[in-house]
Amino acid sequence: MFVIQPLIFRFATTASISDDSYNPTVAVIVMEFVKLVLSFFLIAAEESYSPFNALGVVNNKIIQRPRDTLKLAVPATLYFIQNILLQKASANLPAALFQVTYQGKTLVVAFCSVLLLSKQLTRIKWIAISLMAIGIACVQLADAREGSQENMANAAEQSIITGLGFVLMGCFCSGFAGVYFEKMMKTGEKPSMWVRNFQLAMFSMSIGIFPLLMEKEDFRDLFHGFNSYVWLMVFNSAIGGLCVAFVIKYADNILKGFACALATVIATLAAVPLFAFELSISFFVGMMIVIFSTLLYGNAIKVEGEYWNSEPPLCKSFRSETTTTEYTKVNTKEEV
Ligand code: C5P
Repeated sequence: MFVIQPLIFRFATTASISDDSYNPTVAVIVMEFVKLVLSFFLIAAEESYSPFNALGVVNNKIIQRPRDTLKLAVPATLYFIQNILLQKASANLPAALFQVTYQGKTLVVAFCSVLLLSKQLTRIKWIAISLMAIGIACVQLADAREGSQENMANAAEQSIITGLGFVLMGCFCSGFAGVYFEKMMKTGEKPSMWVRNFQLAMFSMSIGIFPLLMEKEDFRDLFHGFNSYVWLMVFNSAIGGLCVAFVIKYADNILKGFACALATVIATLAAVPLFAFELSISFFVGMMIVIFSTLLYGNAIKVEGEYWNSEPPLCKSFRSETTTTEYTKVNTKEEV
């Protein structure tokens, strides 16, 4: 799901010139609508499979508690912007380059985890996280062959610099929103994951509707340009988003990065017998780095020494002790 996402985005966003293309805002609104409906059914499943009980939960936990619900506006806005940025980046960058540069979010996630969750990351963990980003970049560069760009409908409009700018902003939105959501899931009162997702989707949808109302005069062609790739992108991202919530709740954003990296390696290996995919040296180097970094992060490979197993002073200064919440007390043990 996460592995094929860049390719789906690339197909969906390059199929037509911008004037004739689908509206990315509409795509994100539909994506959020799908998440809203799925979250509602998942709330119902938690409530003895009763839609009436689920309506009660929506009323008690969401509508009657506007202050708590309002907190979700921050990640919802960032995720909304991120989803638009990633589509714009995909329209400009080859899928592999997009994937490689999007790895930058790994470091943003680590930094935000220190800042917002007071996570203690030792020097060796920082090295493991950086190595993982480098490793997965090698894996993806090995897979970098893309059909001739000239054949893409929007070829003349593509700009690497613009695309890189969008990816960079996407990294910040993704990293910050992910860690903020993690904080909401793991500290204070911990409501059901699906209630949180319902709130998130509700906000993201509402945020999207405003620009749409301003930019559009005619709503009859709202789904103009929605070809099968765009629909695939919408459903893949919606279901993938709910999986992200699951991983954030039961693991964390940094482990999610390692899980996605390993999934990419496994999917590429699976492509060998399935699609006669030829593996390059770059892939093997990348795979070894990813595996090594995962073992390093999970302490399966131990590096002795106080220096490597202590936190850099800069991180310590960012990690204000007063913000050390129950999160750190509950989540001090980390295993990959
Ligand atoms: O690239 P990244 O892993 O940050 O993407 C996360 C995606 O998952 C976002 O597009 C966001 O919309 C989605 N998400 C979600 N529900 C959550 C957390 C993330 O739908 N609780």
